Amino acid sequence: MFKKLLGKKSNKSEAILQRSAELVDEKVPSHIAIIMDGNGRWAKKRAMPRIAGHHEGMKTVRKITRYACDLGIDVLTLYAFSTENWKRPKSEVEFLMGLPEQFLNSFLPELMERNIRVQMIGEEQNLPKHTRNALIKAIDTTKNNTGLILNFAMNYGSRAEMVMAMQEIMREVEKGHLTIDEINETHVDRYLMTSHLPEPDLLIRTSGEVRLSNFMLWQLAYTEFLFTDTLWPDFDEQCLLEAVQEYQKRNRRYGGLEGEDEK
Ligand code: IPE
Ligand code: IPE
Ligand code: MG
Repeated sequence: MFKKLLGKKSNKSEAILQRSAELVDEKVPSHIAIIMDGNGRWAKKRAMPRIAGHHEGMKTVRKITRYACDLGIDVLTLYAFSTENWKRPKSEVEFLMGLPEQFLNSFLPELMERNIRVQMIGEEQNLPKHTRNALIKAIDTTKNNTGLILNFAMNYGSRAEMVMAMQEIMREVEKGHLTIDEINETHVDRYLMTSHLPEPDLLIRTSGEVRLSNFMLWQLAYTEFLFTDTLWPDFDEQCLLEAVQEYQKRNRRYGGLEGEDEK
């Protein structure tokens, strides 16, 4: 897959392409999830308003989507707005709610060209109409694409998601389709917003914060975590490549043993 990269026309440096080609194919994460954090601090460092950081962060989304596509990753989930982010000043929330439109309107032709499929997780019914419409349009336009799934977590909160799953399961019990003792992990998985996706293999959080902020609490049970001090607007292809290289060095045991210790 990476051999293909080398032959591809791209403005990325030869060095990055060369190093991408050296990645171990079988160990490329299928699903990468990113908590894109640090836009505000990026702007503050430059004495700019916070929204300038969000604008710059949107450019990083483009860059990282392209590179994830080049690397042959199956799913890229980006935490764009949490159920707690409504607490921010109205003007910042309004700006953030305009970003999907800005991003998708200008990027949609390239998403089609690259065979990328847009999806979302989160409570879409509570989004402003224009935000929701932009997302729905992109989801619908790209629905037959078979390449990278670009999954936005928008108005997403893991606790709310789990409460919703519990309610759905209880409804099944109420209807008599399921008994309480039959409830298992597969049922929970089925009612989460991620039911159609593989669990994340790698979680990246930028900006030096070391917490999950209500992101995919169930799904990340055996995910490899990588925290970097880089602020999201500064995160680039090189950073993602290094994250994948770090991931490839990890030994995922899932509670078992591996290699010599197994004998
Ligand atoms: C991440 O950047 C974007 C969102 C949460 C929407 P922040 O806006 O949280 O940036 P910091 O953490 O204040 O630097
Ligand atoms: C998490 O970042 C949410 C997103 C990246 C969308 P926050 O900046 O909102 O998280 P806290 O408040 O630092 O935990
Ligand atoms: Mg933050």
